[in-house]
Amino acid sequence: MNRRDFLLALAATALTPATGWAAPSGFRLKAEPVTTRLLPDGQGVTRMLGFNGSSPGPEIRARQGGRVAVSFENGIDGASAVHWHGIHIDNAMDGVPGLTQAAVKPGGAFDYVFDAPHPGTYWYHSHERSWEQVAKGLYGPLIVEERDPPRVDHDITVVLDDWRLTRSGGLAPNFGNRHDFSHDGRLGNFARALLSREAVRRGDRVRLRLINTATARIFRVRIGGGDGIVVAHDGMPLAKPAPLGELVLAPAQRTDVILDVAAPVTFAMATRRGAYELGKIAAQGVNPAPIDAPIAPLPPVDIPPPDRKKARRLTLAMQGGAMGGRHRGKDFWAFNDYSGMPYEPWQRFARGETALITMKNDTAFPHGIHIHGHHFHEVGEDGTPGHYRDTTLVDPRRSRDVLCVFDNPGKWLIHCHTLAHQASGMKTWVEVV
Ligand code: C2O
Ligand code: CU
Repeated sequence: MNRRDFLLALAATALTPATGWAAPSGFRLKAEPVTTRLLPDGQGVTRMLGFNGSSPGPEIRARQGGRVAVSFENGIDGASAVHWHGIHIDNAMDGVPGLTQAAVKPGGAFDYVFDAPHPGTYWYHSHERSWEQVAKGLYGPLIVEERDPPRVDHDITVVLDDWRLTRSGGLAPNFGNRHDFSHDGRLGNFARALLSREAVRRGDRVRLRLINTATARIFRVRIGGGDGIVVAHDGMPLAKPAPLGELVLAPAQRTDVILDVAAPVTFAMATRRGAYELGKIAAQGVNPAPIDAPIAPLPPVDIPPPDRKKARRLTLAMQGGAMGGRHRGKDFWAFNDYSGMPYEPWQRFARGETALITMKNDTAFPHGIHIHGHHFHEVGEDGTPGHYRDTTLVDPRRSRDVLCVFDNPGKWLIHCHTLAHQASGMKTWVEVV
């Protein structure tokens, strides 16, 4: 079987992950080897990495403005660290070895304590050899609940991931090979939507929090089974909720949907050979008293607006990769002719300064570019600031402007969230003073 056949052969099977969802804040988070049942019964188990016995790790929930306190313990073979993706976090807690902390050695520990100012759907993941550790399962959901959450019957987390498996269910061992690094990363041959809930009733209103935790795959997903709207991207509410069409999630991106259930809720991924079912929430029974108020937008968040007139204008050119042009960096990929972490930051901003960054993709591959510790506006074709993102997808040979108010002091990474690209050059950092 080739990889694609393998992926499609399993399309009809349904399964749920053996994960431990919903942990409170203020607890121990241990990275360790785990055994997971990804494949259907009898087709093998997968030895990978996880937190507290499972991959994804436990869902951490906090309240808006609340404190998250996690004692991280490293029970794996290599050094590690935990990054809290998308949170406007205290820089010392951002979990980036070499920039904000030292990597935690095997057997070591690190206490992460931070406040979560903005509600929304986030996630946490290893930031050490992330191209390998995240692909092996070192990640989990991080949910910050609104002070006044929208009324729904169920709040369901939907982790989208893929894995490159051998036929007996093990992780294919070829991590970090040059082909993955110079092309589109470690794409899996088996993909799932891992659901925190297996069944709902017809007539229920559900909030679906989609998180793309894959290291390379851009998920194109259609949700079936009811009428819904898109209410948030990357944790941040849309000013105007959008109709529910095909959702495109680059690695690390999140999308929140609120949906009124009429039938089993399905998650179908578009592939070149048609739709592939990633997962399904069964519809059992009928809600006798469905919520009948229209689905409302989420409450707006309080982020300082960009000062466009005074914005510093910058270009961040993505370069390299297979079939890419030349650049002067020393690895496969580069930003502005430099590969890897420069000794000095790419830019230094005064706290509160706005930057208008043209993210210019001069390569043959799409890249989802993430800025740590901040959200930014994607600027529309007409020049108006669009919705907030912490990770923006830029297609090959295209560019996208983003407007970011750098208001969070510290040292912040900017990198491609195709983690193989990050590992082979496509990263830099800025400092906010
Ligand atoms: Cu989720 Cu540096 O990234
Ligand atoms: Cu990339």
